Amino acid sequence: MPSSEQNKQKRGLWSSRFGFVMASAGSAVGLGNIWKFPYITGMHGGGAFVLFYICCILIVGIPIMLGEMVLGRHTRKNPVGAFKSLKGGPWTVVGWLGVITGFVILSYYCVVAGWAVDYLWLALRGTFTSQHAATVPELFTELLLSDLSQLFWQAVFMAAVIGIVLGGVSKGLERANKVMMPILFLILVFLAGYGVFSPGGPAALRFLFSPDWSKLDPLSMLEALGQALFSLSLGMGAMLTYGSYADEKTNLPTAAFTVSLMDSCVALLAGIAIFPIVFTYGMQPAGGPGLVFKTLPMVFSQMPAGSLFAALFFLLLVFAALTSGISLLEVVVSYYCDEQKWSRPKATLLIGLLIFLLGVPSALSNGLLKDISFIGNRNFLDSIDFLASNYLLPLGGLLIAVFTGWVLTTRVARSEIEKGAVRFHFYPVWHFLIKYIAPVLVAIVFLHLIGLF
Ligand code: PHE
Repeated sequence: MPSSEQNKQKRGLWSSRFGFVMASAGSAVGLGNIWKFPYITGMHGGGAFVLFYICCILIVGIPIMLGEMVLGRHTRKNPVGAFKSLKGGPWTVVGWLGVITGFVILSYYCVVAGWAVDYLWLALRGTFTSQHAATVPELFTELLLSDLSQLFWQAVFMAAVIGIVLGGVSKGLERANKVMMPILFLILVFLAGYGVFSPGGPAALRFLFSPDWSKLDPLSMLEALGQALFSLSLGMGAMLTYGSYADEKTNLPTAAFTVSLMDSCVALLAGIAIFPIVFTYGMQPAGGPGLVFKTLPMVFSQMPAGSLFAALFFLLLVFAALTSGISLLEVVVSYYCDEQKWSRPKATLLIGLLIFLLGVPSALSNGLLKDISFIGNRNFLDSIDFLASNYLLPLGGLLIAVFTGWVLTTRVARSEIEKGAVRFHFYPVWHFLIKYIAPVLVAIVFLHLIGLF
């Protein structure tokens, strides 16, 4: 067997193209869709934000996702190895930025996912249905004030992520995604259907889909673009790493498009499930990060079979977070396995533990550390999330777009995409978008942020 063939087998491959798409969609669909998208949409005024967000997905998100998949499959390496082998020199830093961003995001991601696990536990115990709806939001405040509970659930979630990543590409990641993703989708469709027909349904649809452009300021645009990258798992090499496990016959443009479509549908469905409830109960759509943990449980407390629905919803939120969490850990683990030649168990356990420790200040940010504010009056968790989604991911996305558009030659890019008898008629469109449009848009938003534009 030639050595490149051996290397491929040792690193692992998806056992099917369906598995690859499910795993990539699993990475994309996460807390970003179900927890974050609805609340930032609420804070930025609804319709106009949603439309601008969809534009970001189309002209920046899909092109960069395809770019990452191409880089990954072409090199069959982790982000650092990929940039090193394609160009090296300063470009290796882009790979490093990705690995570091994975580290940072997973650290606080586990804390928020831990809240979801706690809520699953509460739902299973029937806590929501045993009390008056008006007192349900207080459960969230109690959780945020309890450092110990948050650390406990953060540890439980991290242990699950580590357990799956230990299983490797096809037996761990792929299997987990193939089970969890379809169930997630079904339940969300059901909950969205329930929302549309509830009394607040029409107001919610109006809020989500009829744009009021006066509400779209530059900061909202920055937030929409950052969210598009975050939600599609772009800008840090997660899709690059997953692409590196894809077989030669996989149609990458179709995969990138399908994954982006699924991701956007889940985000919109989450909005359609949540906002009707917000309006039915006369609550504020701009409720902030507590939206999913305060408003939804209120309706569960009054619905027939509410405990069951609550348990299903939070189980699925946990699934969504898990399938994303494993992709974040996989990026870092793949670096240590490929470049440092660590065994998968050693890399997974050690890195998992380190990331858990880095997440501790996030878990304590509403309790022990509540009086310390970091970026712009935000607590630690909100600051690190702001830093990752508004600086690290856009910067990573910008550099990946510039690399794919300007450094990677057309010959390499096109022949990688068109391997296995794939014909990509939109190649010129993609190339134009990734060479000019994506970098310029990301750069404008970025310069505005640092006050230069
Ligand atoms: N896309 C994930 C979500 O929406 C988060 C994520 C970001 C995962 C970057 C991997 C890489 O929750």
